[in-house]
Amino acid sequence: MRLHLPRRATADHWSFLFGQIAVYCFAVLLVTGAFLTFFYTPDMTQAPYQGSYEPLRGVPVSRAYESTMDLSLDTRGGLLVRQIHHWAALLLPAAIACQLLRMFFTGAFRRPRAVGWLVWVALFVLAMVAGVTGGLLPDDMLSGGTLGLVQSITLAIPFVGTDLAHLVFGGDFPGDAAIPGAYWLHITLIPVVMGGLFLLRGRMVRRNGHTRFRPAPEVPARAASAALFLFVAGVLSMLGTVAQINPIWNYGPYRPGDTTAGAVPDWYMGFLDGAIRIMPNWEPSVAGHPLTLAVLVPALLIPGAFFTVLAAYPWVERRLTGDDRVHDLLDRPRDAAVRTGVGAAGATFYGLLWAASANDQIAVEFHLSLFTVTWFFRVAVLVGPLLAYAVTHRLCLALTRREREEAAHGRETGRIVMSPTGGFTEIHEPVQRELASH
Ligand code: HEM
Repeated sequence: MRLHLPRRATADHWSFLFGQIAVYCFAVLLVTGAFLTFFYTPDMTQAPYQGSYEPLRGVPVSRAYESTMDLSLDTRGGLLVRQIHHWAALLLPAAIACQLLRMFFTGAFRRPRAVGWLVWVALFVLAMVAGVTGGLLPDDMLSGGTLGLVQSITLAIPFVGTDLAHLVFGGDFPGDAAIPGAYWLHITLIPVVMGGLFLLRGRMVRRNGHTRFRPAPEVPARAASAALFLFVAGVLSMLGTVAQINPIWNYGPYRPGDTTAGAVPDWYMGFLDGAIRIMPNWEPSVAGHPLTLAVLVPALLIPGAFFTVLAAYPWVERRLTGDDRVHDLLDRPRDAAVRTGVGAAGATFYGLLWAASANDQIAVEFHLSLFTVTWFFRVAVLVGPLLAYAVTHRLCLALTRREREEAAHGRETGRIVMSPTGGFTEIHEPVQRELASH
């Protein structure tokens, strides 16, 4: 049978909405971010706090902290916009992650869409960097904790670490260069590159059309798209109104000598936090120099390897399967058992590292020793992905085998009939299957 696909097919499945949700979160971030720039000052000059929050009156704080406090407590609508900005920054990477999962498990990254896949991987990394640089700006205790981590990671890089740290922090830690530097990255370079990538992705979708699960007629999408934008903006506004986020007056201004207890990063940095928490304290000496593997492995090597494999996957799969054809129709996950197994292994690895960032909370809640929980995660991140692969792969094969059997012999109806000779048989019904079901 010849399939006639519309040249400019539109999305026909709910899972296609993730990409659009990401675009709309980005739009909300641009608008709210532009508002914030009118009030926020990336200045590290210290002065006694003069604003309306009594407990901090007279405490020396940076202009960056004070301006974010004023924005939150003394500017009409300021707190709402700040909170919407932060909620959008949490939803953006979540939408991109769902888009990546959707593309991976359906094989939507195959020709001609491998570059589209790369664009989404890059957007995920950039959304993380945008979130981290944004989180640094208020110069509160949480921001300082992140800054401390950035310093440790920079210093751990062999050969260039010390010079690089000097460059980033402009002298001693925390210095007065890091936050202004993060600010310019945050409001210019990162949004411009991300905007460019979103535009590129839009062009590619217009050129290649959407992939789809089965051939279907084109449907008008513009009205639905506008409604989705309003929905995303509405949900973010509601969250910004009712759900408090990053209350920096509770955390206080950053003081390098102090530390916070129970602090965790925004969700998208959790996997790095988890990796750092469970990494053994290895620091071998190489040619007389300490090599801080305890930081290098979890903070640079693991994420570096993870995102490199993720980015290269379309080409790796093409190489290994020799499948160089153009694919406009998607696979169902069960139809590509190896890929689905690999995806499950990757998701399990990421998920376990992410969960490990709560090792202290898990120990407290379940009355376990922190040592036991940490060792559990050390073993689980190695064994879990292998198990996930084995189970998922088998499950996919079993599902396709059952379908084949049903196609050949029909579906069991549960109705047993007796033949004239006294034998019993179950009635089988022929299966009416679509070309590919959702
Ligand atoms: C690309 C996506 C972006 C992400 C993921 C992002 C994320 C964040 C985050 C997490 C914060 C900390 C918010 C808080 O204090 O609770 C922040 C702060 C800030 N962002 Fe963004 N942002 C983005 C784009 C922008 C853009 C385009 C601008 C300006 C045009 C901007 C301007 C600001 C300003 C001025 C602050 C400091 C005020 C504050 O901390 O509330 N952001 N951003």
